[in-house]
Amino acid sequence: MLPTRSSDVLVLGGGIIGLVTAWRAAQRGFATAVVDPEPGGGAAQVAAGMLAAVTELHYGEQTLLGLNLASARRYPEFAAELTDLTGQDLGYRQCGTLAVALDADDRAHLRELHALQRESGLDSEWLSGRDCRRLEPMLAPGVRGGLRVDGDHQIDPRSLARALVTACELEGVVFHRVWAAGLSVVQGRAAGCVTEDGTVLPAGQVVLAAGSLSGRLAGVPKDVLPPVRPVKGQVLRLSMPRRHAPFLSRTVRAMVRGSHVYLVPRENGELVVGATSEEQGWDTTVTAGGVYELLRDAHELMPGITELPLTETRAGLRPGSPDNAPLLGPTELDGLLLATGHYRNGVLLTPVTGDALAHALATGELIDEARPFSPKRFAVLEQRV
Ligand code: GLY
Repeated sequence: MLPTRSSDVLVLGGGIIGLVTAWRAAQRGFATAVVDPEPGGGAAQVAAGMLAAVTELHYGEQTLLGLNLASARRYPEFAAELTDLTGQDLGYRQCGTLAVALDADDRAHLRELHALQRESGLDSEWLSGRDCRRLEPMLAPGVRGGLRVDGDHQIDPRSLARALVTACELEGVVFHRVWAAGLSVVQGRAAGCVTEDGTVLPAGQVVLAAGSLSGRLAGVPKDVLPPVRPVKGQVLRLSMPRRHAPFLSRTVRAMVRGSHVYLVPRENGELVVGATSEEQGWDTTVTAGGVYELLRDAHELMPGITELPLTETRAGLRPGSPDNAPLLGPTELDGLLLATGHYRNGVLLTPVTGDALAHALATGELIDEARPFSPKRFAVLEQRV
């Protein structure tokens, strides 16, 4: 089949990471195209949309914290720009988050998280169980204490994905609604892709942004293929009553018997409950066990939840990487860049990923905040072993 017209930038994957990359690239004047059968789909259709740089801090992930905070700082302006451009509401709520403890073990764990947050210079306030319930009266009476983090917000990832598709369209991004079957490499340089229907799409530079599928694209040299794997997350959606007093006014999360559970209340009355974390390969089945565990843990946190209509159950795949951090920017293969491996932070990292990839496409360099996340860090590790 004859090749179609060449793009400057071809983005493989039209989830929120691919879309923000395409949008920002097109804004810089690159002729940009996206290859995806369903732009705006993927993990964003499942994700709750917590922007939780502070409450999702983990030991050993302080470098990632820097990138998470860089993206959190960009969010207000990013959301305003996208809303102004598209006229679409993104469900961006600066509502804060409350992380609570249900027993002595959870409380000790939260105390440690609080210490780590303070060492890292982050704002969070320790509250007694009574103060937690004063903030959120529907919480279980047994709540033993919690952390109030007013800087961790939320956005509706489905609205974000829709708006990014519109923003791309407005910037002239071309959509090829088909799967990419393989990368084209010509004389040692990424030169485009071949789609599932055999169409050749030539390009000056290619960005692989296909979430957990990024590690499977044919034609990518083995030492350049990103080490990402799917990590399944099951998520529920419920509907809150529209009463005078809100059922829940901010995101509430807890660790229950070692599993994370979070409740994210949207302004439109939707309550998102997430999420399981399962190493199950490519399976996206919603299981009775997954739904049971989420409802059981959410019920321990907020007993009133069992009264709410259950409107949706769904599973998605997080693109996990060996160090839980994304792979951003140029690879060892000329012309091929990566934007994948965002794991639990894809929605949060959307703004900084767009900026980092657009800069890398224009200059070949990463912005300072993104430098530690070059895909080349794994190539170096491989050479050492
Ligand atoms: N960031 C929430 C999750 O991945 O479940």
